This record gives sequence, C-alpha cells and structure tokens, in this order.
Amino acid sequence: MYSRLEPLRAKIKYRTLLNKPGSTKETYHICLDLQNADFPFQVGDSLAVLPQNDPIYVENFLQILQASGNEKIFDTRKNEEVELKEFLTTRANLSKINTACLQLLEKNCVSVEQKSELQALLHPDNKAALLEYIKEKDLLDFCKILEVTRIPPSEFCATLSPMLPRFYSIASSKQAHPSEIHLTVALFTFTQSGEKKFGVASHFLCKLSKENATEIPIYIQKNHGFTLPEDHETHIIMVGPGTGIAPFRAFLQERIHHNAPGKNWLFFGERNRQFDFFYEEYFQELAQKEKLRLDAAFSRDQGSKVYVQHKMYENRKELWSWIQEGALLYVCGDASRMAKDVEATLHRIIQEEGNLSEEHAIAYLKALRKQKKYLLDVY
Ligand SMILES: Cc1cc2nc3c(=O)[nH]c(=O)nc-3n(C[C@H](O)[C@H](O)[C@H](O)COP(=O)(O)OP(=O)(O)OC[C@H]3O[C@@H](n4cnc5c(N)ncnc54)[C@H](O)[C@@H]3O)c2cc1C
Ligand SMILES: NC(=O)c1ccc[n+]([C@@H]2O[C@H](COP(=O)([O-])OP(=O)(O)OC[C@H]3O[C@@H](n4cnc5c(N)ncnc54)[C@H](OP(=O)(O)O)[C@@H]3O)[C@@H](O)[C@H]2O)c1
Repeated sequence: MYSRLEPLRAKIKYRTLLNKPGSTKETYHICLDLQNADFPFQVGDSLAVLPQNDPIYVENFLQILQASGNEKIFDTRKNEEVELKEFLTTRANLSKINTACLQLLEKNCVSVEQKSELQALLHPDNKAALLEYIKEKDLLDFCKILEVTRIPPSEFCATLSPMLPRFYSIASSKQAHPSEIHLTVALFTFTQSGEKKFGVASHFLCKLSKENATEIPIYIQKNHGFTLPEDHETHIIMVGPGTGIAPFRAFLQERIHHNAPGKNWLFFGERNRQFDFFYEEYFQELAQKEKLRLDAAFSRDQGSKVYVQHKMYENRKELWSWIQEGALLYVCGDASRMAKDVEATLHRIIQEEGNLSEEHAIAYLKALRKQKKYLLDVY
C-alpha cells in the first residue's frame, strides 16, 4: 500500500485548463498516469499529494543562507541526513513564518532597531501584535527585510514547519479509467506585500510540474462513507459548485459503467456559464440521454448572485420528493460559506415541503446525516 512515507511517484499524462479564455479563474483538469501500479481507490476518496516548493523560492533561500544546496543537513523529523536543496524543496513549509524561526532571525539580527522590534513582538504579552506583524508577509519576505548574519543552514532548517500533504477529490472512476486518476484543481492565488502569490500544491500541480516528466508523490486518503450507495437503484442528489464537482464526475462515470437504474441529479455552480462550465460536454450529453438531471447556477452572469442553493430552492418540490424516495444527498466544495448556506436552504425546503417546524426540519436533516443519507465532503 502506498502511503505518506512510501508514496507512488506518478507523472501528469496531460493537463487542461477547464476555464475558457475570458474567465476570471484558473481551474485545471489533471490526469495522472498510474502506469498499472496497484493503486486501489473508490469513488469519493481523495488523493493526497506531497508537493514541492517553487524552485525560485528555494534558490532565494539558498542565497539567503549563502549555500549551494549540496550541503548535508540533518532532518530531525525523519532522523536522517539530506541535501539542503532537497530538504527545502520537498520537506519544509517555506511560506509560513513560525515563532521558532522568528526567534532565530532575532538572535542573528544585526540591526539594533529590528532586533528590539522583534524582541518586543516575541514577548508573550504581545501575541496580537505579533499575529498582525506576520499576517501580511511570508517567510521569504522576512528573510529579505531583516538584516541578519549568516545563519547555519541546519539551524535554520530545524525551525521550519513541515511540508504537509494536500488533498484533492478524485474526479474519475477506476472502472472508466483503470490506469489514471483525474483531479480538478483550482489554482490558489492571493496578494501579499503587494505581490501575487500562489498556493504551494495547486501551483506545483497546475504550473510548475511538467507533463510526462515531473514525479508527483501521491497516496490515497480514504473518505469513509462519502461514496456511492451499494444499491444501484438508489437515487442520488449531488451538490458540487466549483471544484466540488470533482467527486461527482467520478460518481457519474461509475453509475454509467454499472448502468445503474437509480436517478442522478447534479447541482453545479460557477462564476460564468460562458467560461466556467466545467465538463459541460460530458454532463450535457448525460442529460440529453436522460441519465442525469442537471441544474447549473452561474453567480456572475447577472446583477444578483445565483448559487446552487437558489436552484435547489426553485426545484424544492421535486427535491423533497426525491428525498422522500430515499435519495442520498451529497455536498462537496467550499466549507466556509457554501456548505452552510446549502444546509440552511435544505432546512428551509424540509420545513416548507414537509410542513415541519424549524426545529423539526433541523432534526430531520440531522437524522439523514446519521443514517448516512446526507453526506458532506467540504474543505
Ligand atoms: C478532503 C479535501 C478535498 C479537496 N479537494 C480539492 C479539489 O478537488 N480541488 C481543489 O482545488 N482543492 C481541493 N481541496 C483543497 C486543497 O487540498 C488545497 O487546500 C488547495 O489546493 C490549496 O492548497 P495550496 O497548497 O495550493 O495552497 P497553500 O499553500 O496551502 O496556501 C493556502 C494558504 O495561503 C495562505 N493565504 C491564503 N490567502 C491568503 C491571504 N489573502 N493572505 C495571506 N495568506 C493567505 C494561507 O496561509 C493558506 O493556508 C481539498 C481539500 C480537502 C481537505
Ligand atoms: N484564493 C484563490 O485563488 C482561490 C482559488 C480557488 C479556490 N479558493 C478557495 O477554495 C475553496 C473552493 O473554491 P472553488 O474554486 O471550488 O469554488 P468557489 O471559489 O467556492 O466558487 C464556486 C462557485 O460558488 C459560488 N459561491 C460563493 N459563495 C457561495 C455560497 N455561499 N453558496 C453557494 N455558492 C457560493 C461562487 O460564486 P461567487 O464567487 O461569484 O460569489 C462560484 O460561482 C473556496 O474556499 C475558495 O475561496 C481560493
């Protein structure tokens, strides 16, 4: 079994941009080649990816440390020697500054003003000020700003947080693509210190890694319960805006493969129909063959926002009848706002269509959750 310690090293077979020119977003379809490796997974599982830092970032740190990269350092977490460049590329979190690193920079700081500012910020009474100070910069910004003497690479590396795996919902079924794994990855960007910055793993997958060349360490992260029902007759309702669509493409491929008689209903949402209708051809084809009921909400095609939950509410009578017929309800995608708002809409639909009080509608959905008929995969 492949794992975090012993991942499979797969290559990208092909990568395509799912957004059309004119879009305000970049989301990629990524096909990884499993090359007949024994790599079992179920639809609904996620793929764990061990990313690499941007080589430009790594070079910047090597310059700061006045090192070539070939120096051997001791990795205390893995209890082994490793080359500095390899450590900075694959094992260290180079984005986030932590207290240990800030303390080391303070210790080696040669500017009197900067040293006293850091000392004040590192005082236990100044936690809020420290958080404010580190919010708008990453580790490299600090290393560039602070005037420090040469820090021994091993000391510097010992303070760094570990590089953590990132998870991506698998967007293909093994039945349809036995030797591949498909992903739907949104390129994560944000502005810091006036500069455009990228999320480590999405940048690695969407931009830095080369097709058919870069090795991408991967393993399976099981998603217990979030999968298709064993009974092929059960209806399924899938709510997946944005990258939340990924597992449902896999679900549909698998249902089609088994010629499952249960009905399928998909709610998809993105910014603009013209540019951001991911996998439109596949879903429209299924809808035309009456194998899928498809409702899509495009939030930026009109003055006011239209989201998946608005489409659900518009179709509340049928949605309620599917639920009563025992349909499984799946929600995947953004946890911070979408999943909460979808849940609030479900409460409203159950309350109105089931003639229940608010309290009873909440209890009804809770019971569906307990019976594993309302399943969430949100992040
Ligand atoms: C079970 C699961 C399934 C998932 N499935 C998918 C999927 O199918 N597709 C998909 O695209 N994603 C998916 N994700 C999300 C994915 O795992 C990553 O979290 C996402 O790609 C971002 O990772 P990253 O390494 O690119 O960004 P990171 O390097 O982790 O960057 C994000 C970090 O950037 C920093 N940051 C963000 N905004 C700002 C700001 N304004 N100012 C300062 N700092 C900021 C924060 O520190 C934040 O933690 C899933 C997550 C989980 C848990
Ligand atoms: N910083 C980045 O570069 C970046 C990139 C990708 C993803 N992310 C984050 O990653 C997560 C998932 O992103 P994603 O690309 O899958 O999709 P997403 O950004 O969540 O957007 C998908 C669709 O959902 C809509 N939406 C926004 N709020 C909603 C709500 N409360 N209820 C229902 N729909 C809502 C969006 O509309 P509107 O946007 O028009 O409101 C958009 O049409 C989110 O947390 C997102 O913030 C960040």
